[in-house]
Amino acid sequence: MSAMTTPAFSPTIQKNPNARSDDERAAILADPGFGNHFTDHMFLAEWTPDAGWHDPRVVPYGPLLLDPATAVLHYAQEIFEGLKAYAHADGSVWLFRPEANAERLQRSARRLALPELPVEWFTGSVRALIEADREWVPTGGERSLYLRPFMFASEVFLGVRPSQHVTYSVIASPAGAYFPGGVKPVDIWLSSEYSRAGAGGTGAAKCGGNYAASLLPQQEAAENGCAQVAFLDSVEHRWVEELGGMNLYFVQSDGTIVTPALSGSILEGITRDSILTLARDLGHDVVERRVSIDEWRDGVADGTITEVFACGTAAVVTPVGHLKWRGGEIDSAPDGEPGKVTSEIRSALVDIQYGRAEDRHGWMTRAV
Ligand code: PLP
Ligand code: COI
Repeated sequence: MSAMTTPAFSPTIQKNPNARSDDERAAILADPGFGNHFTDHMFLAEWTPDAGWHDPRVVPYGPLLLDPATAVLHYAQEIFEGLKAYAHADGSVWLFRPEANAERLQRSARRLALPELPVEWFTGSVRALIEADREWVPTGGERSLYLRPFMFASEVFLGVRPSQHVTYSVIASPAGAYFPGGVKPVDIWLSSEYSRAGAGGTGAAKCGGNYAASLLPQQEAAENGCAQVAFLDSVEHRWVEELGGMNLYFVQSDGTIVTPALSGSILEGITRDSILTLARDLGHDVVERRVSIDEWRDGVADGTITEVFACGTAAVVTPVGHLKWRGGEIDSAPDGEPGKVTSEIRSALVDIQYGRAEDRHGWMTRAV
């Protein structure tokens, strides 16, 4: 999309006349869970080849009316992002590295043949929604307002080609812990049959189709008492990639912290990237390299891997307990508590996000 056809970001605001009462909102914010409740407004904008990005608007939250032939419903040309707004003690509201999400949305757009949204439209849209729904940003505890920007093929056409009408939207959802157990170790199911993404595929893009493909193995995980699936590479079924919605880290007994190197089919997590820096700040050697499933299993069994944790915006930093597969399991959190290094890294991250520690890397941006 050329800059010439993209007007300056200046959204219209239509207030919701049926916004929830203070009492209704307070009841939701007291126990939001994850992804269950939505705020009073949403953001929308449209793109066409001729007009570029246009009609940015904040409107009352509500259903989208879609023609049954809308392209996204058939060919899944859709991408999304996830980031959080954090209330600080002084009442201000902050975003964590929103430009990184904006840039990842652009990379995802390129892979899915969607138009790139300018970074200032991304950050502007998120800010405009937070301003409209500022009362919905939870305070106290480790709660936040989860923001879900997404973009989809909205042309009414059944031919298979990139959509000539694209809609971008942002919705917001007050969030507590992603896993109902809070910061307790989660058990992981190792998928032996299914891959999340393949070479040349869409694994490095944040597109809905990747998550659709993860649901069957996710169901298998749930049947085996596990909260997430660990996926291996699709060629050798040997190299650890990531979980269905989180990246992975391994803490070695010598203090080194290892994360699978980006392979082209792993999603480049912003939490993963931030932890590379924070762990170094804390004095750890941090290595991005290939990690085989045997290294994970044998390392936990013989003690060379002392902690395993998963990370992502929704789940923050979550310790991994059991890794289970057909015919076996190992446990990297036998006492049922997060390990020392996991806790230290988690605190370093959330203390910056909630304004309790100095933002030495310039990651925080004030939203309102
Ligand atoms: N990997 C996958 C497949 C994800 O869905 C997510 C969540 O966004 C992540 C990793 C972590 O990414 P981030 O830290 O940017 O939230
Ligand atoms: C996130 O962490 O933001 C995610 O997108 C993970 C999951 C909720 C899809």
